[in-house]
Amino acid sequence: MAAHSLPLIQKAQILGDTVYSPTAFSKFLGISKNDLLEKEAKGIFPPAKRDSSRERYYRPEDVSRYRNYLGLPSPLKSIRKQLFLNFKGGTGKSTISASYGFRLAQMGVRTLMIDLDPQGHLTQCLGLNSQQFPKTLFSALIEKEDMEKIIVKTDLPTLDIIPSNLNLSPVELSLFSMNSREFRLRRLINSVEKQYELIVMDASPSIGLLNLNAILASNDLIIPVLADFLSYHGLKILFETLSTIEEDFSFVFENIFIFLNRYNESHRICKRSKKALETHYDKYLLSTVIRQDTKIAEATSQGTPIFLFAQSSKGAVDVQSLIDEILELKGADHVG
Ligand SMILES: Nc1ncnc2c1ncn2[C@@H]1O[C@H](COP(=O)(O)OP(=O)(O)OP(=O)(O)O)[C@@H](O)[C@H]1O
Ligand SMILES: [Mg+2]
Repeated sequence: MAAHSLPLIQKAQILGDTVYSPTAFSKFLGISKNDLLEKEAKGIFPPAKRDSSRERYYRPEDVSRYRNYLGLPSPLKSIRKQLFLNFKGGTGKSTISASYGFRLAQMGVRTLMIDLDPQGHLTQCLGLNSQQFPKTLFSALIEKEDMEKIIVKTDLPTLDIIPSNLNLSPVELSLFSMNSREFRLRRLINSVEKQYELIVMDASPSIGLLNLNAILASNDLIIPVLADFLSYHGLKILFETLSTIEEDFSFVFENIFIFLNRYNESHRICKRSKKALETHYDKYLLSTVIRQDTKIAEATSQGTPIFLFAQSSKGAVDVQSLIDEILELKGADHVG
């Protein structure tokens, strides 16, 4: 692929310096630490790299390599194109989608993340300075640039991103006068999806043509909601919009997942809105709840996925559980 490499900026190097201990690494492979060491002793795996105190360590790119040694299939059964969307602002779309996609890439899943918001928050949540990228989805959608030219590789070999910044903002107006204006993103994604197992998109909190494109290009809708009644109302608007789209375009999502974010059990309002969601949206509501966690807020402000910032925090445990539930990876314990 002709994608260019990230310029060396400090935050990208945080990803690059990541190494895994045998315990963490064995969890990514779904085997025990003993099994990992035994397979190394038997020569099934090559000798691990050692640090200055002779401790074994592994790098992010080793995950896919070791999965191949074991003949393990991808953790995903088929390609998933997943859209994080809620018309209500500030529910955690960017924060949670960034950590979600990053973690799956860490687990060896070939992932493309697409930032659909001119605010560039997904890009920033991954530790990248959104302003440094001259090209966004605008170039491909409107100016017919090849997707290959706007995809940016990161130093996590399984993670690519289409970054965003204010260059994307005229997209609504430009799309409006174009042919097949609702299906342009679907076509672009079709042109590159063979290279990936997972595509994660982070939408802006708006109803518009770009988000309609994103909906029509996805298999799964993932909706973070806060436990308050404004969010509850927002959901109603979202589902009304979806039923119009279903009528107009005969389009239905294969899966819709709703999860509660920033949940605080000690707040009565949280418990009450959880009950309301269970009553009215039971079919879609995940049992995973992402708790309010200051570590998540700190990780966002530092532009670091929670798994690099505080990997045993409540936030990291909850996002892993979200991944396991959505992708039916239950039984595997990957946090470590
Ligand atoms: N579980 C959590 N615990 C604590 N803080 C959280 C949690 N989830 C998200 N946040 C914080 O909430 C704020 C809003 O999150 P985020 O920007 O991801 O929302 P969004 O839905 O993408 O917003 P927008 O609609 O503007 O795109 C951020 O500061 C983030 O750090
Ligand atoms: Mg956002």
